[in-house]
Amino acid sequence: MVASLLQGYEDFRAFVNPLVAARAELSEEPYRMVGVRDGHLIDADGREYLDFIAGWGTQAFGHRPPRIEAAIRTFLDGDAPSFFTSNLSPFAGTLARVLSERTGYDAAFFTNGGTEAVEAALKLARAATGRTGIACLAGAYHGCTFGSVAMMHPGVFRNGFGPHLPGVEALPFGEIEPLLKALADPNLAAIVMEPIQVESGVRPLPPEFLECLCRETAVRGVLLVADEIQTGLGRTGSLLASEDWPRRPDIVTLGKSFGGGLIPHSAMLTRRPIFDHAYGTLDKAEAHASTFSGNALACVASLAALECLDDNLLEEICIKGEAFREALEHWVAPSPLVKAIRGEGLLWGIELTQPDHPYFQFDYLGLPELSGYPAVGMLAVHRLYRAGFLTHVCGHAWQVIRVQPPFTTTQQELIAFARALREALDYLWSLQ
Ligand SMILES: Cc1ncc(COP(=O)(O)O)c(C=O)c1O
Repeated sequence: MVASLLQGYEDFRAFVNPLVAARAELSEEPYRMVGVRDGHLIDADGREYLDFIAGWGTQAFGHRPPRIEAAIRTFLDGDAPSFFTSNLSPFAGTLARVLSERTGYDAAFFTNGGTEAVEAALKLARAATGRTGIACLAGAYHGCTFGSVAMMHPGVFRNGFGPHLPGVEALPFGEIEPLLKALADPNLAAIVMEPIQVESGVRPLPPEFLECLCRETAVRGVLLVADEIQTGLGRTGSLLASEDWPRRPDIVTLGKSFGGGLIPHSAMLTRRPIFDHAYGTLDKAEAHASTFSGNALACVASLAALECLDDNLLEEICIKGEAFREALEHWVAPSPLVKAIRGEGLLWGIELTQPDHPYFQFDYLGLPELSGYPAVGMLAVHRLYRAGFLTHVCGHAWQVIRVQPPFTTTQQELIAFARALREALDYLWSLQ
């Protein structure tokens, strides 16, 4: 098996994307993973790594979680159909009922990747309101299909793909005046946002902005869409990060660990009257569709993930999150390279200051293509690789290290990470 995986890495370079391999090699990212032990990754040299970005959020229950694997095996050992030609899937029905009991949203649409859930939300908002305007926030990351890209913060993920979907406007992050101005437009269907913007540096929505948003969208009949693909399913210590908003969002999207880390799966949740406004007649009932929506395997994995995510685990995430906050405050905050530490539960961003010294410039490191980006975050991440931790910088904010360990991470491992990060920062600081 190991030999075929190693061959697969070479095939990836040749047949998928050689520059991804080049990037991993340039940054010395340990990528030749060939095994999993107790939820941790093992590379071809037998070295163990703690994945402190949890496979970009997908591996919240650890890599290859036994309870999810067992549920999938049980399904495969049975003889229930895996696909329902009528599009009426009992597995989707059960999953939607469980989601309704746990979240209060009584209408669901399932799809594969996160961006498809966002697309479903955009289409639902237009179809339900009969309006076309969509507002989002600067700094957003909602995925890479055209609707999501129209809301994407400027940069490589957006530039070069225009013209973008018309009717989409990005509002300045957290500013109330532009929000009120956008809401005055009678053609505005929805405002889409992440409870915590991860790719722009793990930025929570300011409370006064959130309050205004919840109040004014209700007054004007504008749908509030919370993209919880990063923040949902326990990441911040509750099932949904938007649970305690002054007003519950009208539409919520889920993804990442929704399929238990083993099956790609995402969901768009809403309330029945909104769904019915959009799709509540026989001719329109299936106007938005996706072939694999409701397939048994994905629903089985999601049901198992929700079972793992019981009240005990949610409480554990809160306790671990507090311990991690303390460890970061104690070990990391005193470093002169640290500008800010933000986060909640097991989702954190450590913002660094970018020194002027040449050693911290991509130009000097022989990578002039990256000269516009701050190198300090990548350098810290590189040191963490050596210490056995996988992390990354935020996609729109390379000076912020993004930390979102699996829920199975122990308090000792959280503290070990904080100490390793401090050592990495001390080393970098000493280079000047
Ligand atoms: C908040 C948010 N929304 C949507 C997406 C898109 O999900 P996917 O990459 O599965 O399409 C992401 C991906 O990281 C995300 O962070």
